[in-house]
Amino acid sequence: APAAVIAPSILSADFGSLGKECSDTIGHGADWLHVDIMDGHFVPNITFGAPVVTKIRSHVDRPKEAFGKGTFDCHMMIAEPKKWVKEFQKAGCDLYCFHYEAAINSTAAESPEATSDEKTNPKELVKYIHSLGMRAGVAIKPGTSVDVLFDILDNPDKDAVPDMALVMTVEPGFGGQKFMPEMMPKVQELRKRYPELNIEVDGGLSEKTIDTAADAGANVIVAGSAVFGAQSPADVIAKLREAVNS
Ligand code: DX5
Ligand code: ZN
Repeated sequence: APAAVIAPSILSADFGSLGKECSDTIGHGADWLHVDIMDGHFVPNITFGAPVVTKIRSHVDRPKEAFGKGTFDCHMMIAEPKKWVKEFQKAGCDLYCFHYEAAINSTAAESPEATSDEKTNPKELVKYIHSLGMRAGVAIKPGTSVDVLFDILDNPDKDAVPDMALVMTVEPGFGGQKFMPEMMPKVQELRKRYPELNIEVDGGLSEKTIDTAADAGANVIVAGSAVFGAQSPADVIAKLREAVNS
């Protein structure tokens, strides 16, 4: 499996000093920042949009290579993922991770320049994200079968293949929820089929649950409350990394 990537979720940071929280977190040894975008439709909560991402981007050096330190991993919990690709690219998003469930259900009304297939077809959405120079991720909620990802990941057209799969280990919407170990078979199946794929887990990850996720084959670890609630965020980040790499 690829090396560990630790991506603290800034959802649990102090939003009153978000820029500093972001630069501090990179200073504590984080690889990426996981940026949770919620629209109040796809999930029952609202966070912030592209203008905030633009501002916090200036507090963190851009990654020097794909997936390098400082990557902004934008987790798009939004009903119209196609509509916001350009805005987030301009704001400094490096990895645009949309939800499969949103892509297939998005409406045709939103983006006049796109065909209806582009709006609802996850493969076309991945291509579009790539065409704007970003990496693409596809996320699945706990109730979604991992099988939907195989067809997308097995595409011979490499432009249409996502660079990361995100297996949610809680229902998206809120930080601080309980990790769902019953999601691990999804991770195991993905790891078996795609030895080199970046597989991200998000929700309830901590020193207590990391071994379960790492054993299943996850390498990109999101942690919100576990990092931002810790006495020493640097220690937690180091321990999560150690558990994945050992
Ligand atoms: C939940 C978000 C997560 C959240 C994780 O919808 O996608 O990224 O911040 O928070 P913890 O690590 O506290 O479960
Ligand atoms: Zn997230």
